[in-house]
Amino acid sequence: MSVTEEIKQRLDIVDLISEYVPLKKSGRTYKGLCPFHQEKTPSFVVFPDTQGWHCFGACATGGDIFTFIQKREGMDFTEAVRFLAQRAGIELVPGSEGGAQQAEVRSRLRSVMEAAASFFVAQLASPAGQLARDYLAKRGVGQAAIEEFRLGYAPNAWRALSTHLLADGFSREELTEAGVISEGEEGRFYDRFRNRLIFPISDSRGNVVGFGARSLDGSEPKYLNCPQTPLFDKGKLLYGLDRARDGIRQSGTAVIVEGYMDAIAAHQAGYRNVVASMGTALSEAQLQSLARLAKRFVLALDPDAAGSVATLRGVAVAGEALQTESAASFDGGLLRFERRLSAEIRVAVLPQGRDPDELIREDGAAWQRLIAEAKPVVDYYFDVALAEAELSDAKGKVRFARRLLPVIARVPDALERAHHVERLARLIQVDPSLVERELAAVRRNAASAPDRDGLDGLQGGRDDSGQGALPEAFGPEEYALWFLSQNGSALAAANEALASLGSEPLSEADFLDPANRALFEALAQFGSGGRLALRSALSGDLRRRFDWLESAGAGEPEASEDYVWHDGIYACFFLRSRRLKHEARLLQLAQEGEEDQAELRQYALAVDKTRRQMQVLTRALASRSLLKAKE
Ligand code: GTP
Ligand code: MN
Repeated sequence: MSVTEEIKQRLDIVDLISEYVPLKKSGRTYKGLCPFHQEKTPSFVVFPDTQGWHCFGACATGGDIFTFIQKREGMDFTEAVRFLAQRAGIELVPGSEGGAQQAEVRSRLRSVMEAAASFFVAQLASPAGQLARDYLAKRGVGQAAIEEFRLGYAPNAWRALSTHLLADGFSREELTEAGVISEGEEGRFYDRFRNRLIFPISDSRGNVVGFGARSLDGSEPKYLNCPQTPLFDKGKLLYGLDRARDGIRQSGTAVIVEGYMDAIAAHQAGYRNVVASMGTALSEAQLQSLARLAKRFVLALDPDAAGSVATLRGVAVAGEALQTESAASFDGGLLRFERRLSAEIRVAVLPQGRDPDELIREDGAAWQRLIAEAKPVVDYYFDVALAEAELSDAKGKVRFARRLLPVIARVPDALERAHHVERLARLIQVDPSLVERELAAVRRNAASAPDRDGLDGLQGGRDDSGQGALPEAFGPEEYALWFLSQNGSALAAANEALASLGSEPLSEADFLDPANRALFEALAQFGSGGRLALRSALSGDLRRRFDWLESAGAGEPEASEDYVWHDGIYACFFLRSRRLKHEARLLQLAQEGEEDQAELRQYALAVDKTRRQMQVLTRALASRSLLKAKE
């Protein structure tokens, strides 16, 4: 659970706000006089169900406990998180979310894992380990590598490890929690790993947190892992990272392979910047742990489609709902990662039928060349699409272009984008200007789509750390902010357009992301002087966010271009209609418990007004998309 979620869970919004505003229960909600503007009848409503608040009066704004404290105490988001964490009795030391008790459990589990690792190492060296030693010799793993990676052997017995650990004073519950035993029927238990070669998996500091275990007799599955435990999260760890840390830092490059044996072979041959993803799709957490060490990543991928698509899909959709379609890998997700981690990702495709382990053993020079010549992500996407394309007929060309356009659209640099447009145009033999136009349409859609992290931002999912993290995507909020900041008169124009539809001027309440809200407030105050004036008025996190928007928007056409103007205002409309929808919902909730007839009429009127505004805006949005379809 994130810190913000934990805080929300521990504090009740009604208790909190009651300290500032006398509240009166009314059905499922509480009402009071709005603390943010002068009023005589209460239009300030608190919603215990959603742990939110809203003022339906003059300020027409709302939010959660964090936004309330921000406004009321005049704090920024980070300060509000600190303030409320203290109230909730949560210590904000990085990584210590659960407190002392959890730390105690984890340290105990670490001792179990360490004792188990030592046991497996001793077994490998014992007479029982003969077969496993033979196997390693056959695979060319030398004694030095065996020791460095602390390889071990789990004997062919039901309770070898557990008997040993229980005698050492660990409890059965601890063994279960550490994932080294399996529970059978009638309270029976037995060792999870039997007759297997053991690969201890360490965290980046070198503490053993899990095991991978390879079958030696051909039994399935080939590899068995510890289950998810408080220490072990396979999707976040990279095998070998503790050994590869220095190599990655020194070379400035992290090479990512799939298998344990591949990573070990690489290190044994002196390629010390290699880590393994352990067969699963790469996650953002994994890439982030590397981004602190190096800015250049090389993915060494299996040539067979399954392997590469699986890995790419992981990268493309990490943090989003997993999509089953393989085309998901074609949304240019790797490019998003490049931008977000400000890293360069390259792809090296292995020769058919070889994995890194074999290639390194057979021909070290070929491995080095492969890594040195790894291709930029976009070129790799071109290769994959080309291999599957049928460019002989019109339909095939269209399909080919449709796959690549979203990828090209994500390239931040305009010159680089032009290069790919040229190439695509050449491949499907059309005029580049045609591709250019299609690309512009794709980029427009991406900017104004009600994207995945739209409403989710409300849960505080984006800014968990409270440390002013940068946005994850150039979504509608970011696009609108970028647009509004590019030209001193953009906000006035957007407000004029909204006014012409009978809608209020844009306000910070149109943004869900607290950091975006803060940036909008600054923009409303200083933006009329243009982007440089705005920038110099910003500091710290807000300036970083502003710079991020500038670089994310750097590939967009000049803001003075007609259709950018159009798109920017469209994005503002989108934010407003999203907010109206939300408010109509809240208003309805608020009138549920109301008995006062006059109040009820007021609510009905307000719902009606909100609905009407929504309709007008929706029509305006729709006519905009009609326009787009005609182009
Ligand atoms: P070798 O066959 O010994 O060369 O293994 P490898 O390390 O080269 O692994 P391979 O290329 O077959 O698979 C890559 C990685 O995927 C492995 O290192 C494991 O982490 C993971 N993996 C492969 N097969 C399985 C399996 O059956 N179960 C699980 N949980 N993981 C697997
Ligand atoms: Mn292999």
